[in-house]
Amino acid sequence: MLIAPSILSADFGHLSRDVEAICDGDCDFVHVDVMDGHFVPNLTIGPVVVDAVAKASTKPLDIHLMVENNSFFVDLFAPLRPEFISFHIEEEKHPHRLVQKIRSLGIRPAVTLNPHTPPQAVEYLLADVDMVLLMSVNPGFGGQKFIPSVLQRATELKKLINKYNPNCLIEVDGGVNDQNIQSLKDAGVDVVVAGSYVYKHPVGISHAIASLK
Ligand code: DX5
Ligand code: ZN
Repeated sequence: MLIAPSILSADFGHLSRDVEAICDGDCDFVHVDVMDGHFVPNLTIGPVVVDAVAKASTKPLDIHLMVENNSFFVDLFAPLRPEFISFHIEEEKHPHRLVQKIRSLGIRPAVTLNPHTPPQAVEYLLADVDMVLLMSVNPGFGGQKFIPSVLQRATELKKLINKYNPNCLIEVDGGVNDQNIQSLKDAGVDVVVAGSYVYKHPVGISHAIASLK
C-alpha cells in the first residue's frame, strides 16, 4: 500500500517541519488539499504555500483539487511540477479535455469521485487517467468518519480498471486508519490518503506511517 499523508492536518505554523516529518517517515506522496470555498465549504491553500511545501518535500506531490474552475487551478499549480493533479468529476463539464491538458503539462492526471458518485461515471475516462481517487468522506474537512460503502465502490472500480487500464491506481481519501486499511487493500486499493491518523498519532508521525504500511 502506498501512503499519501494529507498536510491538511499539519501544524501550518510549522509547515516545512511537518512536511519533512512525513518524508522522513518514508511516505510515498505528499497529499495537498486545495479547497476554494465554493465547491466545498472550506478554504485552504494556493500556490504560494504549496511552493513552500514542494521545497520542503523530498517526495512527489499529489494535488487534490476541490474547486470550481479546475482548468484555472491546473494552470496555477502546474509550475510546481506535482506528480498528480486530481479534479472532481462532479465539477467538470469537460473532463476528458482537462485530462488531456494535465497530461500535456507533464503531470499525471487523476479523477476524484465523491461518496455518492458511482465508478461507472468515469468508465470512459479510465483509459486516459493514471489514478482514480474515491472519497471515503464528504470533501472539505479532515478528521471525519470513514464511509464504508467506498469498499464496494473500490471493488466495482477495480473490475472496470482491469478491463480498460490495469495500470491505473485506486486511491482512497478520508477517515483512513490502521483499522480499515486492510479492508481497502482487500478491495484493490493502491494508495491511501491519511491526515489526522498520521499527524495526530500519539506515538508519532513515522510510527503512524509504518503502522499503515
Ligand atoms: C478531505 C480531504 C482529505 C482529508 C483527509 O476533503 O480531501 O485529504 O485531509 O483527512 P483525514 O485522514 O483526517 O480524514
Ligand atoms: Zn484529499
